[in-house]
Amino acid sequence: MRGPTRSGSVVAVLWTSAPDDERFVETVLPGLSPEEAGRARRTSVSAARSEFATGAWLLRATAARLLGVEESEVVVDRRCASCEEPHGRPRIAGLPGFDASLTHSAGRVGLALAAFASVGLDVESVAGPPDAALVETACTPDEAAALDSSPADVRGSLFTHLWCRKESLLKAASVGLRVSPSEVDASGVRPVLRRRRSTAPLSPAEATRLARVAKSGRWIALARTPEAFESALFATGSACLSAELDEGDVETLTRSDDYAALVEGLGRTLRS
Ligand SMILES: CC(C)(COP(=O)(O)OP(=O)(O)OC[C@H]1O[C@@H](n2cnc3c(N)ncnc32)[C@H](O)[C@@H]1OP(=O)(O)O)[C@@H](O)C(=O)NCCC(=O)NCCS
Repeated sequence: MRGPTRSGSVVAVLWTSAPDDERFVETVLPGLSPEEAGRARRTSVSAARSEFATGAWLLRATAARLLGVEESEVVVDRRCASCEEPHGRPRIAGLPGFDASLTHSAGRVGLALAAFASVGLDVESVAGPPDAALVETACTPDEAAALDSSPADVRGSLFTHLWCRKESLLKAASVGLRVSPSEVDASGVRPVLRRRRSTAPLSPAEATRLARVAKSGRWIALARTPEAFESALFATGSACLSAELDEGDVETLTRSDDYAALVEGLGRTLRS
């Protein structure tokens, strides 16, 4: 594992799995806040319930270590910028300089952690080739043309890769899919924004933030993406990836020496 530099910003990524198993969810629920446990209980699809609970627990456990407090003392603010419901980007009270991004798909759960950078992480399972309407909704004309001329057997993964890149940027900017992914050209090293249509209007502050994040950030290559999935990590500034860990089970992950070293390194950077 490369160590974070004292002066620079740093990003790390944790991957784990969320089994679609009620007994597993019951073991995770007691570690969550009442608000988180309530949201988990209200999630009727069992796989989605497990993914949410796993991500929420992993974030809470990691923030607790960084803050040096019990998991139950961590305050996670998930207020949505649009509707105030607790389903928005998670922010941790008392950790200036810290940012986190959660993602889940088909039982895979990812958490990106950052010191002194804004970060967005997205994972998606790969379906078959996208239909024309989806490509039109999500892609720029050049991206659509490139997909159209690609072999049919790789079109699904190419489209999903582009989608993850777009969503990771939009998550790093905190706007999510309120901005159409077709407004983000994700085919180059850095994103290019092209105003076309927004699914919901952004405030001037949000539009400025999106432009700043897109201009100052870049996608960072990930190494732990299994077959049948695509993922993308976007971070602002010159953040380097200090570590990417992948453990099949969240308890094993958070008890591992690599996890302890990763959180310790991040904590050092945040205090520097
Ligand atoms: C964020 C978003 C792109 C995630 O889409 P997704 O592919 O289904 O889900 P992922 O698993 O990759 O990410 C989900 C995580 O994104 C995070 N998230 C939610 N809103 C976010 C935002 N605006 N910016 C960054 N991250 C966000 C949450 O941590 C969420 O995890 P949780 O469900 O465990 O709480 C999508 O939910 C979205 O665009 N939300 C905002 C839309 C909005 O504002 N609508 C109007 C208000 S109701």
